[in-house]
Amino acid sequence: MGVIQIMSPSLANKIAAGEVVERPMSVVKELVENAIDAGSTKIDIYLEQAGITSIKVIDNGSGMVKEDALLAFERHATSKLRAEVDLFRISSLGFRGEALPSIASVSDVTLITSTGEDLGTLVHYRAGKLVETGTAASKKGTEVTVKSLFFNTPARLKYLKAENTELSYTIDYINKMAIAHPDIAFKLVNNNRILLETYGNNNIIQVLANIYGLEVAKMIDVIDYRDGLFTLKLYYTTPEINRTTRNYITITVNKRLIRNNELTKAVLEGYETYLPINRYPIAVLDITVDPLLVDVNVHPAKLEVRLSNQEHIKTVITELIQKKLKDLMYVPKVVIREPFIEKQEVNVKQEEFDFTNQNNERDEVKELFTDKFTLKETDIKMDTNNSTSYIRSEPEYEIREEKAVVKTPKLPKLYYIGQLLGTYLLAQNED
Ligand SMILES: Nc1ncnc2c1ncn2[C@@H]1O[C@H](COP(=O)(O)OP(=O)(O)OP(=O)(O)O)[C@@H](O)[C@H]1O
Ligand SMILES: [Mg+2]
Repeated sequence: MGVIQIMSPSLANKIAAGEVVERPMSVVKELVENAIDAGSTKIDIYLEQAGITSIKVIDNGSGMVKEDALLAFERHATSKLRAEVDLFRISSLGFRGEALPSIASVSDVTLITSTGEDLGTLVHYRAGKLVETGTAASKKGTEVTVKSLFFNTPARLKYLKAENTELSYTIDYINKMAIAHPDIAFKLVNNNRILLETYGNNNIIQVLANIYGLEVAKMIDVIDYRDGLFTLKLYYTTPEINRTTRNYITITVNKRLIRNNELTKAVLEGYETYLPINRYPIAVLDITVDPLLVDVNVHPAKLEVRLSNQEHIKTVITELIQKKLKDLMYVPKVVIREPFIEKQEVNVKQEEFDFTNQNNERDEVKELFTDKFTLKETDIKMDTNNSTSYIRSEPEYEIREEKAVVKTPKLPKLYYIGQLLGTYLLAQNED
C-alpha cells in the first residue's frame, strides 16, 4: 500500500505560514498590503508589545461582503488573480491567496469588514479553526486583529528577538511603505505611542520629513527620468547628508517595496568618491515598469522581484546620480605651471589637482578668487566637508585655475601624519 497522503488544509496552512509569517512585521506587512490592494487611503496600525501581544490594522478600503470575508481565510482564495496569464501582469501587492489563512493558522484572528452598504461581517479564527462568525457595524473598510501570534508554534515564538528589535523591523517597514505610498495616510502606534503619522496628501517630501527630519528633507532633490523601458523618480540627498547603513535607500517597483542589492549598488556607485567610506546616502527609487517585465513570484515574502531590464536600469541610475553630483559639486581644474617637486615624506604625484568644493549657497563660502592663488611652504589645505586636500613642501609656486572657493576659517599650520580610512588626511600641530 502506498504511503503518500495529501495533507490537511490546516497543516498546509501552517507550513505556508512558516514562509509567510516570520515575525510580527510579516503580519503587519501582509495586512497593510491587503489594505492597499483594497484601495485604502487611510491605514492605522496599532501594536501592543511590538505586535507580539496584538496587531490591529484598520483600513477604509473596499471592505468585503460576508461570502468573501469567509472565503478569504481559505487557502488559495484570492480576488487578485483569476487566470494563469494574470500571473505575468500582476499589479496588486498580493496574489497568492495565502496570507490570511497562514496568519490564522498561527494566531487568533478577528476580521471585521463591511462594504458600507449592508451590515458588516465578523469572522474569528484561532489556530486555523473557524470559531465564530457574526455581524458587525456597516462602516466601510476592514479591521483585522491578530492576537497571540505563534502561541501554537512555540519554536517560532522563541525565535523572536527582543521587543525593541521586533518593533524596529515594523517601524522600518511602515516608514518605507509610507514613503512608497505618500497618497495614503499611515498611522503606526505601539503601546499607545504614535511612532509615525503621515497625511496621505501625496507629498513625499513631507513624508520624508516625518521620517528623517526636516533638515534632511530640505536637502532632498528629485530626478525625473523616463525612457522606453521604464520610468524613474529618484529622490536623493547630497553627499553631506549620509548615514552609517544602506538601509536608508528605499526601492519600489510598481509601488511594491523591494530589496535589491544590485539597484542599491547602482545608487552607491553613483555616489562613489563623493561619500566617505562606510557612509551611505538617503535615497528613494520609485521605479515603474511594464508589469510584463517584472517577475514578482520569486520570493516567499514577495520582498524581491526579478526585473528583465535590470542592467539598463542600473546604468541609468548610476549615471543620473553621477551627473547630478558632478554638476552640484564645484570641481574646477587646477593646472600647475611648474613641475611639481616631490619630497620624501609627502607623497603627492599628480600633476593636476581637483579642488572639489561645493558651489552651493548653503556653504559658508567667504571669498571667491577668480585669478590665482599661491601656496606657502608646508601649507596644507583641507576641505573638511569633502575629501579634497593637498599638500606641498617646496617654496612658492603658482597654481592657476579658473575659479577657486576658499573657505574660512583658514586652517593653521599643520604637519601631515598620514591617511585614515582611505578618506581623511590626518595632521597635527603644536596646539
Ligand atoms: N483589508 C482588506 N480589504 C478588502 N479585502 C481584503 C482585505 N484583506 C483581504 N481581503 C480579501 O481577501 C483575499 C485573501 O487575502 P490574502 O491576503 O489571504 O490573499 P491575497 O492578498 O489575495 O494574496 P497574498 O497571499 O499574496 O497576500 C484577498 O484577495 C482580498 O480579496
Ligand atoms: Mg494579501
